[in-house]
Amino acid sequence: MKHRVCHFVVSVICFATAVCTASAPPYISALNSWIDVENNVARNRLLSNISPAGASAGAVAAATSRSNPDYWYHWVRDAGIALCEVSIWLNATSTTDDNPATADMLNKKLKEYAEFSRYLQITSSSSAYGLGTAKYQMDGSPFTGPWCMPQQDGPAMRAVSLIGYVRYLLANGKDVSIYYDSKQPTTSIVKTDLDYIAVNWDADNNNCDIWEEVRGTHFYTYMIRRRALIEGAQLATLLGDSAAANWYSLQSEYISQNMSAAFWDAKLGHIRTTANQTGGLDYKISNLDTQVLLAALHSGLDDGFYTVESDRMLMTVVRLVSAFKPLYGINGVSFATVNSAIMPVSLALGRYPEDKYDGYNSSGPGNPWSLVTSGMAEYHYRLVDTWNRREAITVTSAVAGFLKQLTDEYSIHFRNQYIVDTTYNSSSAIFIEILYNVMVVGDMYMARVAFHTDSGGQMYEEWNLDTGFGQGAVNLTWSYGAHTSAARHREAARCIVYSC
Ligand code: NOJ
Ligand code: NOJ
Repeated sequence: MKHRVCHFVVSVICFATAVCTASAPPYISALNSWIDVENNVARNRLLSNISPAGASAGAVAAATSRSNPDYWYHWVRDAGIALCEVSIWLNATSTTDDNPATADMLNKKLKEYAEFSRYLQITSSSSAYGLGTAKYQMDGSPFTGPWCMPQQDGPAMRAVSLIGYVRYLLANGKDVSIYYDSKQPTTSIVKTDLDYIAVNWDADNNNCDIWEEVRGTHFYTYMIRRRALIEGAQLATLLGDSAAANWYSLQSEYISQNMSAAFWDAKLGHIRTTANQTGGLDYKISNLDTQVLLAALHSGLDDGFYTVESDRMLMTVVRLVSAFKPLYGINGVSFATVNSAIMPVSLALGRYPEDKYDGYNSSGPGNPWSLVTSGMAEYHYRLVDTWNRREAITVTSAVAGFLKQLTDEYSIHFRNQYIVDTTYNSSSAIFIEILYNVMVVGDMYMARVAFHTDSGGQMYEEWNLDTGFGQGAVNLTWSYGAHTSAARHREAARCIVYSC
C-alpha cells in the first residue's frame, strides 16, 4: 500500500536574511518530544558507558552486553565517535546555561579517556598491530584473539575526538602539552596519533574496514585520516609547530589526491567503499556500503570534499536507499505510530546489502542498523543546513536524482518544478520547497528510529529485519552517539525550515 505524504506548506513567512519558514506537519510536536526525551536518554547512556564500573577509568564499553554478543571492549573507533560527541557537548557548555557541574563531569570523562588513550598507545606496542590495534580489554591490554586487524581509522578518530577536547582546554587557558608538544619523537597523545597517520597512511594497503571484515584500502578510513591531519595541522599551527603543520597538510593533500582517483566508479555510479580488496569476505560484490555515508558525517569538513551535498555522495546515497529497500520485511511499512501520533516513516538501512552479520554471528541475513538509519536522518538535516548556508542550490543531475527519489520513494510532491543545471537562490520558492521536503524526509528517518526504539529509550545495534525488534548488542554506545548527533543537526535544520 502506497501512502501519500500530504503537503503542509500552508503559509510561508520570509525574513530578509533567513530562509523563508514554512509551517510544520501536524505530527511534528509528537516527534519533537520523542527526540527531546530520547536525546536525554541517549546522552546519559552514552556517558555511563565511559569509565563504567568494573573497567579502568577512561575505558569506553562498545556496549554493556557481555555475552551474545560480547561487546565489553574498548574499540578505538567506537570510543572516538562517542567522545567526539562529549567534546562537542563540553565546548557547548560555554554558550549554554548548562550548570558548571555538567562541564566538570564532561571534562572528567574526556580527561580520563585521554589518559586511558595514552595508556593504550603504550600497551599497543605489545600487540602485533601497534596503533592499528582495533580493540582493547577494558583494563587497557590489547585484544589478542583472532580478529580482523589492523584497522587504521582508530588513531584518526581518537585524534579528532581529542583535538575537540584540546580546543576546549585552550579556550579555558589550560596547559595542553600532554596532548600536543612539538617534540620528535613525541609522547604527547594527539601528536603520537598524528605522526603515526602522517607516516603510515600510504604504507598499509591491507588493513581492515570499519566493519572488520574486508581487507584493502577503504574510503571511510582515508576520510577520517584526512580530517585528523587537516585539523592536526590547524592545531600544530596554533601551537607554533609549523614544520609539523606543513607536513600534516601536505600528507592530507596527498590523501585527497589519492582518494579522488581510487574510489569513484563512474560506471557503477557510486563511491566504492573499498579499493583494491586484498582479502576478507568474498561476497561483498556491490562495493556499496553505508560506511561511505558515515564518512561524510564523521569526516566532512565543509570544503566540498565528499561532503553531504557533493554530487558523488548524493549519487551514492540514492543507490544505497534503492539497494536496502527490498531487503527487509519492515521496509514494507511506511507509516507508524510514534508518541501516539501517526507519522510517515522512511526505509530502514543497514551496513551493506550483502551483509550476513545479524548481531550474533555471520550466518544471518543482515539486519537494518539504528546508527545507520540515524545517520541518514542526519544526512538530510546537514543538507538543509549546508544549502541554507550557501544561500543557493544548484540542481545538478545528482541533486535532481536525489530529489526524484524523495518523490518516487517517499511520495514527496514538488509543487514547483526544479530544472537540472539551474541555480536557485534562497528567496526562490523552489529553494524553500526543497529545504522543506528534505527536512520532512530527514524526519521520516528519525521517526523510523523512534518506531524501533524501546519505550524506555533503550537502543540496540540492530533491528530484526522482519519484526523490527532490537537485536544484537544492547545499549550500543555508537547507536546513542548517532542519535545525539542527528538530534543536534536536526535542531539546526528545524530552525531553518520551521523557525524556532
Ligand atoms: C564482529 C564484527 O564486529 C562485525 O562487524 C563482523 O561483521 C563480525 N564480527 C563477523 O566478522
Ligand atoms: C561491529 C561493527 O561492525 C564495528 O564497526 C564496531 O566497532 C563493533 N561492532 C563494536 O561496536
